[in-house]
This record gives sequence, structure tokens and C-alpha cells, in this order.
Amino acid sequence: MERLQKVIAQAGICSRRKAEELILDGKVKVNGEICDVLGTKVSKQDIIEVNGNMISKEEKVYYIMNKPKGCLCTSSDDKGRKTVLDYMPKNERIFSVGRLDYDTSGVLLLTNDGEFCNHMIHPRYHLEKTYVVNLQGILSEDDIKQLRKGLKTKTEKYQPAKVFVLQKDLTRNRTQFELTISEGKNHQVKNMMLALGHEVRRLHRVKFAFLDVKDLRAGEYRRLKPYEIKQLNRLAMEGENK
Ligand code: URA
Repeated sequence: MERLQKVIAQAGICSRRKAEELILDGKVKVNGEICDVLGTKVSKQDIIEVNGNMISKEEKVYYIMNKPKGCLCTSSDDKGRKTVLDYMPKNERIFSVGRLDYDTSGVLLLTNDGEFCNHMIHPRYHLEKTYVVNLQGILSEDDIKQLRKGLKTKTEKYQPAKVFVLQKDLTRNRTQFELTISEGKNHQVKNMMLALGHEVRRLHRVKFAFLDVKDLRAGEYRRLKPYEIKQLNRLAMEGENK
């Protein structure tokens, strides 16, 4: 048995807080009867409707993929470009946990659990994502200081990042470094670099929290192990209190 608001959130309809509001507003029915009591426990046999729509009770699935370059993190594309779902089982309604750009590769999680997805990507939960950035230009000491302090631009304020320089190639005017951030704003790494006057040549996410894809070739995926899912949820809960 699970709490009604949790089951609604897990179905990907809304956050747990919003589910509580919907319950209190009388928008949720269990077995045909309005249920406006928070904390009501429901089982797999119960039929739940939210705003008149029955929610699906699919088994929750969790995957990690080594996303190749040249595919989108959307379910379809009107220009016919490849999406990450082209690499995945076809019988599950899964979606990516946040997005990597078309030309970005590396660790990508996929699931059908909306609440898990929200916990993994919302900055409130402080889950770290590490990228190897190949930069056109030399990352200066001042750039590094700004990134570590929390880069500010005219329109954005980024939380402090971790920076570890791997290679500086003065002849070719290139830098390779690791950047760890705990937010997931749109094109965040590229925009941070642009704000510092640099262009990203290549971006690869090497880690999502403690998970990497060293065991997977580009385009390969595997199911997350139960202890990995537990650990991700635990980190998100700890991160919320930071
Ligand atoms: N930041 C970016 O700019 N692009 C990505 O794909 C991921 C993070």
C-alpha cells in the first residue's frame, strides 16, 4: 500500500505537493468515489482518477544510457532526427531525466517515474553532474575563480561549480577540464562558457551523482540496480536539507 499523493506523483502527473492540493480540492477519485483525505493508502488494485483521467500503474523502470552525440532527448522530432528513445525498448513509455543537447554525449538517465525524475533534476536536491568540457580557448585563473565562486551574468546567476583542469594546450589554444554543477539550466555549460568568452567544442557528461557509463559504449544502456535507485533517492533527500 502507498500513499495516494505518492502514487499520483510517481505516475508523472504532477509533484507530490500539487497532488496533495488536487486531493484536497476533490479532484481525485479512488474506485469511483471522491477521496479528499490526505494520506489515504491505496493498493495496486485500486482505480485512481485525477481530473477524470485514470492514471496508469505501469511498473517503474529506471535506465542509465551512454547517450551518443547526434540524438535528441525528446520523444519525437518533426525534422526526423534520431532521439534517445530510438535506442531504448519500445514497449515502455519512458522519458529522459533532464536533457542533454543533440551534440552532447554521456550519462543519461531514463525512467517512467515522474517523481524520481523531478528529484533528480530540481536544483533543490543538489545532485551533482560532472562534465568533461573541451574548450576552444584557455580557461584562465580568473575564469576558474568566477566558476568556483558562482558565475553571474546579466541574466543568470549560477551556483558555485567545481573545476578541475585536465589539460591546457597553449599551441592549439584549447583547454580540457572537468566541471561539476548541481543545477540543470538549459544549455548551462555552454552558456557559462559563452559568458566567459569561450566556445565549447565537445561536451561529455561523465557522471550523474555517483553513476558513470564506463561500462557502456555509446548508445548502450542498462537497467539501474535497486541499490543505485535507492542511493540516488537518498542523495536527493540529503541534498534537499543542504
Ligand atoms: N550543458 C550544456 O550546455 N549542454 C548539455 O547538453 C548539458 C549541459
